[in-house]
Amino acid sequence: MSKDSLSITDNRTGKTYEVVIENGTIKALDLRQIKVGDGDFGLMTYDPAFTNTASCKSRITFIDGDRGVLTYRGYPIEQLAERSDYLETAYLILHGELPTRPQYESFVHSITHHTLVHENIKELMGGFRYDAHPMGMLMSTVAALSTFYPEAKHIHDAQNRGDQIFRLIAKIPTLAAFAYRHSVGMPYAYPDNDLSYCGNFLQMMFKMGGRYKVNPVLERALEVLFILHADHEQNCSTSAMRGVGSSEVDPYSSIAAAIAALYGPLHGGANEQVLHMLHEIGSKDKIPGFIKEVKTSGGEVRLMGFGHRVYKNYDPRAKIIKRMADQVFEVTGRNSLLDIALELERIALEDDYFVKRKLYPNVDFYSGLIYQAMGFPLDMFPVLFAIPRTSGWLAQWDEMLEDKEQKIARPRQVYLGAQRRDYVPLAARS
Ligand code: ACO
Repeated sequence: MSKDSLSITDNRTGKTYEVVIENGTIKALDLRQIKVGDGDFGLMTYDPAFTNTASCKSRITFIDGDRGVLTYRGYPIEQLAERSDYLETAYLILHGELPTRPQYESFVHSITHHTLVHENIKELMGGFRYDAHPMGMLMSTVAALSTFYPEAKHIHDAQNRGDQIFRLIAKIPTLAAFAYRHSVGMPYAYPDNDLSYCGNFLQMMFKMGGRYKVNPVLERALEVLFILHADHEQNCSTSAMRGVGSSEVDPYSSIAAAIAALYGPLHGGANEQVLHMLHEIGSKDKIPGFIKEVKTSGGEVRLMGFGHRVYKNYDPRAKIIKRMADQVFEVTGRNSLLDIALELERIALEDDYFVKRKLYPNVDFYSGLIYQAMGFPLDMFPVLFAIPRTSGWLAQWDEMLEDKEQKIARPRQVYLGAQRRDYVPLAARS
């Protein structure tokens, strides 16, 4: 008998089956042979929220949640945050290797020269109410881009996919900045191709008139935040990207779906919620009362920015962000909410409730404080997550389309509803 296998005895029938173990997994389909009789569909696994199901094989991002390790294509996140920039990291995520200088320059050039959006997009933006959430505007305008690039539907053409990848990474910051400027009633600022990816985004956001001078500390901080957010394996929005993309729809529609998933307060909306929570707490003396509320609410009130499905240790991204905060605050002035956050973290990490459940700060706990100090309004926080995650979503989408084992995503269900019954006319129902 092979060593890398699992013997399963079905106590209903007394039969034993041998199932191959590969990469620490068994194939769910191998369980289908386990039946009690001919009419039996066969055994399935039941895994709501996919807590123990690998939906794909991937070579992009690795997380060791117990040890707090994150790597992109094998490179530790700490090294990338210290030495890389966002576009180089995006190239690495997409292509699997760090670029040579000519490859890097060509990639940056292609992204830089796709940043403009069709003028009609401005009219589309203009249709939103003045107080529209920028994430909703981003989601809608990204979806709308699919109508501007109908050729994007040829998803099996690798060259064509590459073109859409450039366009999406390039245009997302433009759409994001336009959404912000719409909400504050300011004229849209067009991309400046002489600036870096992050420098250009800052000027499109905050330029008032005349030339915008990019602060190098803030520009670097944004590069680091974008590197940290570029990919995170099979999370909710990436699963949405892969799931929707598996129907072979164009990448703009799939990215819109991924943005929708990221919008939720349990995912990319959490950094916005952290700031609301810190505002609500208001002062350090209110922290014990808030912690008590979290512990006694039966899961209803959560300490936002804490806890993670995969990390059962300090999120390595949160560590980097916490260290970087001081550099940013030297330029912007200290965010007064930082003291509340630090004290909240100190108390929570000593509290049995959080210790027992292995709840540590995640990436969102400190990122919002930096974004706020840099002048970004709260509702732009999830948008600031979506911009860099676009490269990760696209890399995962590309990998899925090249994977011969993948097909349209279509989970099974355990049906517990009514058995077959006959329709009763309205008049006959009591
Ligand atoms: N505050 C208080 N209690 C928490 C928290 C929290 N932030 N997170 C988890 N718990 C508790 C749960 O109530 C549960 O307790 P129980 O066992 O007594 O019922 C236990 O810890 C396990 O929690 P689950 O919800 O089962 O963990 P799951 O892996 O499903 O959730 C999640 C992960 C959604 C991130 C969760 O920790 C959470 O809601 N955190 C706050 C929101 C947040 O910060 N999200 C950002 C995640 S990172 C990202 O998306 C970029």
